[in-house]
Formats: sequence, structure tokens, C-alpha cells
Amino acid sequence: MKHKVIIEPFKIKSVEPIFMSTETQRKAFLEKANFNTFLLKSDQVIIDFLTDSGTSAMSAEQWAGVMRGDESYAGSKSWERMENAVKHLTGMEYVLPTHQGRAAERIIYGYLGGKGKTFISNTHFDTTRANIEFSGAEAIDIAIDESNDSALIHPFKGNINTTRLESLINEKGAKNIGAVILTVTNNSGGGQPVSMQNTKEVSAICKKYGVMLLLDCCRVAENAYFIKHREAGYENKTYEEIAQEMFSLTDGAAMSSKKDALVNMGGFLALRDKEIAEACTNLLIITEGFTTYGGLSGRDMEALAIGLKEVFEPAYLEYRIKSTAYLGEHLHKMGVPVMLPIGGHAVYVDAKKLYSHIPVDQYPGQALACELYLKGGIRTVEIGSVMFGKYDENGKLIPAPMELVRLAIPRRVYTQSHIEYVIETFEEVLKTKNEAKGYKITKEPQFLRHFTSHFKPL
Ligand code: F0G
Repeated sequence: MKHKVIIEPFKIKSVEPIFMSTETQRKAFLEKANFNTFLLKSDQVIIDFLTDSGTSAMSAEQWAGVMRGDESYAGSKSWERMENAVKHLTGMEYVLPTHQGRAAERIIYGYLGGKGKTFISNTHFDTTRANIEFSGAEAIDIAIDESNDSALIHPFKGNINTTRLESLINEKGAKNIGAVILTVTNNSGGGQPVSMQNTKEVSAICKKYGVMLLLDCCRVAENAYFIKHREAGYENKTYEEIAQEMFSLTDGAAMSSKKDALVNMGGFLALRDKEIAEACTNLLIITEGFTTYGGLSGRDMEALAIGLKEVFEPAYLEYRIKSTAYLGEHLHKMGVPVMLPIGGHAVYVDAKKLYSHIPVDQYPGQALACELYLKGGIRTVEIGSVMFGKYDENGKLIPAPMELVRLAIPRRVYTQSHIEYVIETFEEVLKTKNEAKGYKITKEPQFLRHFTSHFKPL
């Protein structure tokens, strides 16, 4: 018999209690957090959809690996296992361990960046952009036009606009391009996948101009799932083979392993070029750690090596992608404007459409994030003008192209009944949507303002 229900392909061995707060309690918690979901305490949250990063439940095998972790400063066995796992996947000669994705980013973009340099991506993730801009370089996003229409169905909305890529390289001069970065899946663009065809085209353009192509591969396994099921010619390849092919088209990769390596902490930088790898290794040693741990414990490296294998298991990936789609498609049917098709790690709600009465400079996404918390204790994050907005010379907001709220789903953590609870909360959000009010920012830092800004309801 072929079952329709896709069950979580695991049993629960260890549980973490959830504190069931009341709406009155949450009102006080949110006020204390200055209406910023990042400033809430985790025990004030019922369902934590803030991020899928570092929030995975590890497997029994991974926990066993934790016990096996070799904590030697140099030449640890656990490093050997991690290095082998990364080399096997990426096919790259040089692997640098880092404590998380942004450490790899700081090293590589600090090295390749600087004033006058331009980086081009489908969409730079916020820490990627921040590291590039911090180096003095500029970061330009050029996902295909379809990516800006949240309701439009397209199988690979994460693709790069290759015409724009070539004209930008010509306009800026190939020698001024720091790198082209393909983010898979395209997190800030709605968790949408990139096709192999697009990767091949981008790779060919980069080769033609002698420009470096890097993969931001946090969610490369999820991306491989979409390729296998949506792109002709990949039906019979394994998920791992698909990922390996994608890496083979690039010159390097940065990974926040807190996503598709199913670990709570970890990352790496993988490179083909010896000279760049040596320069980056120097930077690694100065701030991260020695070359055989780079800021990670032996046990972290052990768990990472195991997770990087487990993530490609077909039963896991099918459950993962289909359970995200289950939530997204339910919300869509109820009339919640969601980004379509549903991405891999998260459901993105179009808050500009949901709260069409709230102007963008009153941050409709922030308003929805607050509503979801108040009504259901659900923690989400705004991915819109709070995260990506800028100001012009007169201090007027230059809004982000979209006002999204992300419901990022931790891997192997929540069950279907948790998801049903979220769907029920949205029913209430829909009923009261005309009463939702906008927010103003009362305090903000210069970089990555969404993390620490304070807000007030209007
Ligand atoms: N690149 C992408 C595409 C990411 O999604 C992230 C992190 C990073 C790089 C940076 O990695 O956090 O390990 O330093 N994304 C998390 C998120 C934080 O919630 O989407 P990190």
C-alpha cells in the first residue's frame, strides 16, 4: 500500500517541554522585548520558527559521534572525518573549518572584497551582504524577475538573471568583481531553489570572464530535492550526486552547517585555489582557530560529518520538503498570501498583501510577526524593509522589494500537530487582519538592524 500521509521518519527519544504561555503573558513579554522577536526569550515562545539555523534535532548517531569527538588541538580524528565528508561532497581540495557560516564569509569576502569590488548574487543573505559591505565592497542581487512576484509559480525562482549577470560584469569590469555567489536555496528570496541549468549557465559566464563562482550552500540538500523532482534529467540521480554536480561547477563554497548538516553549530569554507586557500587559512588562524578545528569542538566536527550524510537520505528529504509544503499549502488555501511555490526550509508570508492597509514605512512584516507571537506564541522573523531597508540622503526609507515574514521550520523538531496549531493561529490572524497596526523603529544599529532594533506600535 502507498500511504498518503508522510510521517516523521523518526521516533522521539528525548523531549524538551514547551511552556504554554497565555496571550496576556505574551503581551507583556513582547513589550519587554521592544516588539522585536529576536529579543524574546526562548521559553516565552511556543513554536519557534525564528530560524532553521542551528535548531535541528540531532540523530542518535550524531549524539554518539559527540561522545566520540576527539578534542585534540591539532590533527584531531574528528577533523579528519569532517574534512573527508566535506571533500567527498564538494570535491574541493582545501577545506577550512569555521564556527559558523558568517565566519567563513568574513574570511573569504574580507579577502576578496574591499573598496571598488562588486559581488553579485541571486540574493545575498543578510550576513553575507553585511560582510561584503563591511569590507567596503558592494553587493548586488540579481535573481530572475519572476522571483519578485510572490504569487507566480516558477520551478526555480532562485535562479540568477544571466543576462543581467553578463551585463553587470561588463559594466563593472571583470577584474572588479569579487565573486559571483549562488545562494542555494535562495533564503532571502523565499527559500526558492536554483536549477542545475542556471548553475551551468552562471558557471560558463564566470569562466568566460575569469570571475570566481562561489556556492553559499547552507541548504544544498534541499535544493537537490527540488532539482530531482523538477528538472529533467535528474530523476534517477541521488540527492548527493546532484549536490556534487552543483559543487563541481563552482570554485568554492561557504556553508553554514547549522542548516543542511543538521548540527547546532558549525560551518566551513571549501576552495579549489591553493593561493586563495593559503591566504584564507592565515585569516582563519588569526581569529577562528587552528586549521584542524577553526573554532569548532571535536564533537561538533564529528556531528557535522554525520549530519552531512544523513541530510541526503531520501526519507528525510521527502518528509522535510513535503512537511514545509503542507503548512504552506494549507495557509494558501485559507487565503493567506504566501510565496509560491513553497520553498524548502520555510514558508514566506507576503505581509504587504495581507496587511495592504499598512504602508511599507510602517513595516507590515513586523506587524505580522508581532501578531503571530501574540495570538499563538509563534516566533517568526520579518524579511522585508526592517531587514533590508535603507535610507536615502533625506532619511526617507528605501523599502525592500518585498515585505515577507518567514516561518522557518527547524529540522526534525516539530510534529504535524504543532503545524496544525500554527494553521489554527493563522485563522485568527485572518479574522482580525483589518485591526492590525503598523510599527515605527525607535532605536537601531548601523548594521543588521533587525537583530537589535526596538519598535513601537503606531
Ligand atoms: N548564508 C545563508 C544563505 C544563510 O541563510 C545564513 C544564515 C548564512 C549564510 C550565515 O550563516 O548564521 O551560520 O553565520 N541564516 C540563518 C537564517 C541565520 O536564519 O536564515 P551563520
